Amino acid sequence: MWKPPERIKYAPEPGAWPTRERAERSLWFSPIRIGPLTLTSRTWVPAMVPWRSNEEGWVTDDVLDWYEQFARGKPGGLVIEATGIRDIPSGPLLRIGHDRYIPGLKELVQTVRRASEGQTRLFIQCIDFLAIRRRPDPAKFLDRFLVVTDDIRAALDMEAAPEAAIRETLKAMPDAELDGVLDTRQLESLRMGFRERVGDTHVPHILDLPKVLPDLFADAAQRAQEAGIDGVELHYAHAYTMASFLSRTNDRDDGYGGSRENRVRLPLEAFARVREVVGADYPVGCRFLTEDIVDGGSEVSDSSFYAAEFARAGMDFLSLSRGGRFEDAKQPNVGEAAYPYTGQSGYECMPAYISDEFGPFGRNIEPGAAIRKAVRDAGFETPVIVTGGVHGFEKGERILQEGKADIVGIARQALADPDFFLKVRAGCGSEVRVCEYTNYCEGLDQKHKQVTCKLWDRKELDEPGVKRTLDGKRRTTAPAWAGPA
Ligand SMILES: Cc1cc2nc3c(=O)[nH]c(=O)nc-3n(C[C@H](O)[C@H](O)[C@H](O)COP(=O)(O)O)c2cc1C
Ligand code: SF4
Repeated sequence: MWKPPERIKYAPEPGAWPTRERAERSLWFSPIRIGPLTLTSRTWVPAMVPWRSNEEGWVTDDVLDWYEQFARGKPGGLVIEATGIRDIPSGPLLRIGHDRYIPGLKELVQTVRRASEGQTRLFIQCIDFLAIRRRPDPAKFLDRFLVVTDDIRAALDMEAAPEAAIRETLKAMPDAELDGVLDTRQLESLRMGFRERVGDTHVPHILDLPKVLPDLFADAAQRAQEAGIDGVELHYAHAYTMASFLSRTNDRDDGYGGSRENRVRLPLEAFARVREVVGADYPVGCRFLTEDIVDGGSEVSDSSFYAAEFARAGMDFLSLSRGGRFEDAKQPNVGEAAYPYTGQSGYECMPAYISDEFGPFGRNIEPGAAIRKAVRDAGFETPVIVTGGVHGFEKGERILQEGKADIVGIARQALADPDFFLKVRAGCGSEVRVCEYTNYCEGLDQKHKQVTCKLWDRKELDEPGVKRTLDGKRRTTAPAWAGPA
């Protein structure tokens, strides 16, 4: 992962832990309404893909175990990982693109209800993404996949040469010299792997995205509702389709790109269709970016506009993330696909302990506060959820007391200790396993390996009932908390 050049090392700063009474009196542990629903507290565990599903996208026993551990901590809201809305092979990503997924999701709902004793409301993050291919072997790419165009012929001064001769010439050239011969997209396909963009409107299925996505999101939301999931979070963040529509980099010229009004059009149309299908009484919100953190990407002024539009359209909550884009991803190894959390924008999404003067804790709080203010200034009370680097009570509570957000989430801290909220609420904060922000978990995610935390995944491995990861080396879930020491 990209690291800030300053390379300042930060130790966790959880601050003082509250007594049980203080926690009970806090805003963080006070209820809040999300549209028609009441959360028991303003605590939240946002979506985290743990790679526990299978090639068919089922809710497996490992998926159930993953959510059971978070539910035991009784957060007010728990979001099921990014779940694919299309019925297409998606690797071990959870799916909701067909009715056959409903029974598994029902079981997941029951698991969370049971483990949280009914305290946690369960949401599901619905995602669409475009195709990305692995970085090819250069010789293979130049031999088989590159389309030899007139521009390439002209650049090589080989207008009349047979195609095979052109391919041989390209293969013999040092990589740097190809800059003057191939165009930007051809070079990207060669060096990073081919990646579709929302602006590829010459490709029929990309042109048709505004026609197909509203129904795909709506069908997914209807299945979530049928499965008994408490609400839906539309994934409009990071490197995926809807975030790319929202991004300033979206240059579509069919009324769905260019101006910010056009860029927000499809996300609003998808939401409208979802609302039509699930009705007014079912909570629907979205997750989107405060800032893209890539050249020419969206900034807080754009996101403030989107937030007010989402609120005006009747979304029930707005969950904020930042960065995590493909544009600045690191070059993958040959045979691997680019990963959107490897560049600076990825760092901003999941800042690690090696950081700059600002540090890794709370980089999205001020941008989130500006967006919340824009929503309030537009006359809406829609709850805003902020996440990023929070690992102690004082920080979470301060964000709420200062009116910078309405709900505060913890992702990696919840992975480090799924019992975080339970312990803090019980006045046992000193027993929390505090996240060190090493991003070991993120490294596993990047390799699509089952995600675990380095603070617990080798602990008590031989205890009875401990399930191991596919590599047999790690436990799949955190040791459960036995209660106050
Ligand atoms: C392993 C892992 C998987 C993640 N998967 C998702 C995801 O599916 N959807 C999403 O919106 N964010 C995802 N995130 C980002 C987190 O929800 C969160 O925004 C980010 O980790 C910053 O919060 P934190 O500092 O509390 O960890 C993931 C993070 C991690 C560490
Ligand atoms: S591996 Fe554990 S300690 Fe390290 S960043 Fe991930 S959750 Fe935190």
